Amino acid sequence: MSSPISSVTGAPFARIMSVAGYRPSRVVTNEEVCERIDSSDEWIRERSGIIERRYAAADESVSDMATIAATNAIRKAGIDPAQVGLVLVASVTHPYPTPSAAAEVAFRIGAIGAAATDISSACAGFCYGIAIADALVRSGGTTYAVVIGVEKLSDWTDHTDRGTAFIFADGAGAVVIGPSEISAIGPVVWGSDGEQREAINMTQSLVEYRQDPGPHFPTLTMQGQQVFRWAVGDMAKTAQAALDAAHVAAEDLDAFIPHQANMRITDAMIRALKLPAHVPVARDIAYTGNTSAASIPLAMERMLDDGQAPHGGTALLIGFGAGLVFASQVVTLP
Ligand code: COA
Repeated sequence: MSSPISSVTGAPFARIMSVAGYRPSRVVTNEEVCERIDSSDEWIRERSGIIERRYAAADESVSDMATIAATNAIRKAGIDPAQVGLVLVASVTHPYPTPSAAAEVAFRIGAIGAAATDISSACAGFCYGIAIADALVRSGGTTYAVVIGVEKLSDWTDHTDRGTAFIFADGAGAVVIGPSEISAIGPVVWGSDGEQREAINMTQSLVEYRQDPGPHFPTLTMQGQQVFRWAVGDMAKTAQAALDAAHVAAEDLDAFIPHQANMRITDAMIRALKLPAHVPVARDIAYTGNTSAASIPLAMERMLDDGQAPHGGTALLIGFGAGLVFASQVVTLP
C-alpha cells in the first residue's frame, strides 16, 4: 500500500562525541551539613560515601550551569553551535514549569532555532536523553544533539531533613551526540514504576502551597530504605539487561558509570553484576554528592580526565530515581 507521507533516515549509528561538566565553586563539607541536622561526618561517609558536595551560588541558575557545560561540550566536539538541531535538558530543578530550560539554553549556546525540550526523569534523565538523542540522530530528526543533565537540588532540599540534606547537590554535565559509522550506543533498557511514585516525592505541590502557604516551601522527600531496596534489588538486573542487549560481557567493560545515588548502592550493584575487579567504577559521589540528572556525565568526565577510563572505551551507564524511573545502556566513551 502506498502512503502520501515520505520519510527520512539519519546516520547509520550515533555516538557520544564529547562530554563536559560544570561543578559550582562552593564546597559544602559534611561538617557544614551537620550544623543543621543531627548527624556526623563519620555517619554520612559510611552510609553514603559522600565526603563533600558542591552548591551553586544563589544567583546561579539551572540554565546558567547547563549553558556552561553545553558550551564546553560543543567546543570539545569541534562542531559549530549552529549545527546543533536538538537540545535536551534533563532536570527536575528548573524552577519554571514553562518556558523550558532547554529553549533558553539552546538560545544561549548559539543553537539558534534548534528543537528544545526538557526531560523530567529525575536521576534517570541523562540516560533517557541519550536514548532519545540516539534515536533521533539515527532516524534523521537531527544530525547533532546536545544532552544536558543539570540540577540545583540545594534549592529544593530541606536542609534540616536528616534523610536528604546530606545527599543532594548541584552541578551540570553535557554531551554532544552525533553521527557514527559504527555502533557506539547500545539499546536502551528503560521503564518506570509509578506505583512507587511516593518513594521520592515533593512534600506538597506548588499549587497546594499557593492555596495554603505553610511555614515550609515544598521540598524533596524520600523514603530512603524503600529507594535503597529498589535500587539494590532491581537496578543490577536492569544493568545486566543492557549488557545483554548490547552483547557486551561485564568483563569487557572499560568503565561502569552508575548514577551517583549512594556509594553503598554502587557497591551492591557491583556485587550483583559480578563485575570483575579490573573494571573501573565511577565514585564521583565522594566529592560531588548526588546531583541527580547531572551525576553520570560529571562522573564520566572525571573518569576520562583522571585517566581512570580510556577515551573510546566501553562503558555501562545506568540512571534510576524518582518516578520511579530507570534507563541503562552501553556506550563508547568519547
Ligand atoms: N545521621 C545520623 N543518623 C541517621 C541519619 C543521619 N542523617 N538518618 C538516619 N539516621 C539514623 C536513624 O535515626 C536510625 O537510628 P536508630 O537505628 O538508632 O533508630 C538509623 O540511622 C537508621 O535510620 P534509617 O532512616 O532507617 O536510615 P537508613 O539506614 O535507611 O539510611 C539513607 C538512610 C538515606 C542513608 C539510606 O536509606 C539510603 O541510602 N537510601 C537510598 C537513598 C538514595 O540513594 N537516594 C538517591 C536515589 S536517586
